Amino acid sequence: MSAAHEWIAVFDFGSQYTQLIARRVRELHVYCEILRHDTLIESLRARPPIGVILSGGPASVLAPDAPHGDPALWRADLPVLGICYGMQLMARDLGGRVERGDRREYGLARIAVVDPDTLFEGMDRELDVWMSHGDRVTELPPGFRALARSENCPVAAMADAQGRRFGLQFHPEVVHTPRGLDLLRRFVRDVCGARGDWRMADFIEDSVRSLRERIGDDHVLCALSGGVDSSVTAALLHRAIGRRLHCVYVDTGLMRDGETEQIEAEFGRHLGVDLRIERAGARFFSALKGVEDPERKRKIIGATFIEVFRDVARSLGPVRFLAQGTLYPDVVESVSPFGGPTATIKSHHNVGGLPAELGFELVEPLRALFKDEVRELGRLLGLPDALVDRWPFPGPGLAVRIIGEVTPERADLLRRADAIVEREIRRWPGAREVWQAFAVLLPVRSVGVMGDERTYENVAAVRAVQSLDGMTADWVRLPAEVLDRIARRIVNEVRGINRVVYDITSKPPGTIEWE
Ligand code: XMP
Repeated sequence: MSAAHEWIAVFDFGSQYTQLIARRVRELHVYCEILRHDTLIESLRARPPIGVILSGGPASVLAPDAPHGDPALWRADLPVLGICYGMQLMARDLGGRVERGDRREYGLARIAVVDPDTLFEGMDRELDVWMSHGDRVTELPPGFRALARSENCPVAAMADAQGRRFGLQFHPEVVHTPRGLDLLRRFVRDVCGARGDWRMADFIEDSVRSLRERIGDDHVLCALSGGVDSSVTAALLHRAIGRRLHCVYVDTGLMRDGETEQIEAEFGRHLGVDLRIERAGARFFSALKGVEDPERKRKIIGATFIEVFRDVARSLGPVRFLAQGTLYPDVVESVSPFGGPTATIKSHHNVGGLPAELGFELVEPLRALFKDEVRELGRLLGLPDALVDRWPFPGPGLAVRIIGEVTPERADLLRRADAIVEREIRRWPGAREVWQAFAVLLPVRSVGVMGDERTYENVAAVRAVQSLDGMTADWVRLPAEVLDRIARRIVNEVRGINRVVYDITSKPPGTIEWE
C-alpha cells in the first residue's frame, strides 16, 4: 500500500468476523489491513496506523494460553477499539477484571446506553446489537467508565477518560447491529481523525505495486473459469505484469451458455491477454460416465481439471506462480480462523488442490475482498458489466446441477434451460436483488401433454437466491409472471423438458447448489 494512505490496523484474534471489520472500515473510505494479533508495535513505526482495532476471537482471556498482543500497544499513543475478545483483553491488560459469565450471550441483544458521550452521541438510548461471548468485564480498568450495559453484561461498552480507548462487548461489524457502522464511523473518523479519502482505485494502485514487487521478472499462470473472481484476478494481474501473465481457460463442457465465447472475446481479443482455451469436454464426460454421487463428481472434475491444466501448463515452460481468484468467503468456508480444517460441507474445487499438486506458489490478490468489492474492482479495471455482474458459478460447473449421471445431452438440455432462467430474471426490474439464479436438471421424468400428444420427459427446477456472500441465502420471491414466463419458455423451447418447479428452500438448511 502507498505510504500516503492513512490506515487502520486490525489485530486478528481469530474471529470469523475479522475480515468484516476490515471491510466496514474500507466502506468508510479508510484503508485497513489485518495483522497477526502478536504483531510488534515497533514494526509499525515506519508506517504507523492512525488507530488500532482488536478483533474478537474464540478463546477466553482467562485461559492460560490465551492469545495476547504486544503490551507496547498500551504505551503507544494510538486510539484503540477492542471488540468482544478485544475489549476483554483491553480490560484485563489495563487493570480491570474479566470473569466467566453464568451463561453465554449469543445472538441479538438489547443494550441500554448509560453514557452517550463520543461513540453513542445522538443515538437511541436502547439499541439492538449482536452479541457472541461467554466471558464479561465485571470491573472496569482505572480511568474507564461504562457507556452501555445489557441484561447479562454490566459493561457492554466502555471508554477511557481521554476518549482514546474504547471497548464494545458486541459486534459492530455485523449487519445485525444496525448502528454498528455508525459506531465504527465515530471511532475511525472522530476518534482516529481519518479523512476518509481512500477509494477502490487506490486498491488497484497498491495491489499492482505489491504484485510487481512479489512477482519480479517471473511469470504467472491463471486459471480463468469464466466467473467474476478469476476474471478480475486476471485483469488485475494483467495490469501489473502484462504479457507475463498466461491465462488458461478449460472448457469442461459444463460451462454456461456463451461463457467460452465471452472469455475469448474479452480477454483474448479485447484485453490482449495471453490466453489458451482448452476444449476438454470429451475428457470430462468420459471421466464422469456412470457417476451419480455428488462428492465423487466433484473429486473427478477436480482431478481431471488438474490433469488438463497440468498438460497446458507444461507446454508453457517454467512458471513460478499460480493466481487464484480466492475471495474471503471461500477462505472462511474452507478453513477455520486458526488454520485447522472445519467440517467439509462441499469440496470447493478452487481452494487448495491445484498449487500443492503442481508445485506453484500461490498469488491470491482478492483474498481479503467480498464479492461486491470484487465487482467494483472489475468495473474499475474496465471489464464489461456483462462479465462483472455474472452470477457466481461453481467450479464443477453444470455437473452439480445435473442430478444423477452427467452426459453431454443432459448438459445441453440444462444449459438451454439455464439460459432462459437467466434471461427472464435479468429482464425483471427486481433482478438487482438476486445473488444467483439457475436451473437444475432432475433425475425424474414426468407425464405431460403437448398438443394432443402425451409426453414423458425431464423436470427442471429453478433456483433463485438472495445472499450477501453465499454463506447464508434466502429464496427470492419471484413474481408469478416471471415464473410463468420461465416455465412456458423452457417447456416450449427446450425439447426434453416438460415440467418446471421452483425451489423455495433457504440456506441453511439447504445449500445454494443442489449438490
Ligand atoms: P453452496 O451450494 O455451498 O454454494 O451453498 C455457495 C456458493 O458457492 C458456489 N459454489 C462453488 N464455487 N467452487 C466454487 O468456486 C465450488 O466447488 C462451488 N460449489 C458451490 C455456489 O454457486 C454458491 O454461490
